[in-house]
Amino acid sequence: MLQLDNIRAGYKGTEALHGVSMWVDAGTIVSVVGSNGAGKSTTVNTISRLVTTYGGRITFEGRDITGLGPAEVVDMGIIQVPEGRQLFGPLTVAENLRLGFHRQRRVKNREAAFRDKLDYIYDLFPRLKERAGQRAITLSGGEQQMVAIGRALMAEPRLLLLDEPSLGLAPLIVEKIFDVLSGLRAQGLTMLLVEQHADEALALADYGFVLSVGKVTVHGPGVELRSNAAVTSSYLGHAGAA
Ligand SMILES: Nc1ncnc2c1ncn2[C@@H]1O[C@H](COP(=O)(O)OP(=O)(O)OP(=O)(O)O)[C@@H](O)[C@H]1O
Ligand SMILES: [Mg+2]
Repeated sequence: MLQLDNIRAGYKGTEALHGVSMWVDAGTIVSVVGSNGAGKSTTVNTISRLVTTYGGRITFEGRDITGLGPAEVVDMGIIQVPEGRQLFGPLTVAENLRLGFHRQRRVKNREAAFRDKLDYIYDLFPRLKERAGQRAITLSGGEQQMVAIGRALMAEPRLLLLDEPSLGLAPLIVEKIFDVLSGLRAQGLTMLLVEQHADEALALADYGFVLSVGKVTVHGPGVELRSNAAVTSSYLGHAGAA
């Protein structure tokens, strides 16, 4: 569904990705793991066309998207849950969710479609229904991440990009969020998940890529990477998957 071929990308002439190739098959979760500064955010921001590409090619559903801008790839259904959530603090939960409902411009009976979508998000995250009228800035970190994911789902993604959804959250909340991602995959959604919590991310993923200083060092099925000695010693902080 998505393919990156030898991507070189970066900021104002400083290259941060030095020839990255990776792919995401439809209906799977692919995890990209690596330490701080490895280039994880740069990778997702390159796919969503927020970062300048110096070389290589990105293909989405058979179409070359390397020359497109951010609005165009959003229109194609590539939707990002950004690092740090990026909610509108003074707006309520429901208002933030409504901001995600923008791809369905030509839908008839738009208000009814919006309500259906909102019910779907509230089914996934019942906590958000209880807090629909609460300002986003007053939510807990976990609730904010639920809103960020919910807002992205409102846009009916074909490919969902998640940049460190677990950042700063307690293990129990991370588990809850990963359970939701697993449920979304069962519904057929395709996801690219960028994570520093490599162990959990690889346990969830069908396939994984390890990034180190702007290069892919290892890739393979998630379960294999979890038991790969080089990966475990560098990124997982334990001797191997149980
Ligand atoms: N806006 C920017 N301008 C210049 N350099 C940047 C910018 N954003 C990132 N970089 C550089 O690109 C490299 C990769 O950073 P990136 O944010 O992609 O890493 P990351 O893997 O997401 O790290 P983290 O786990 O800390 O989020 C780093 O060397 C970083 O300093
Ligand atoms: Mg990052």
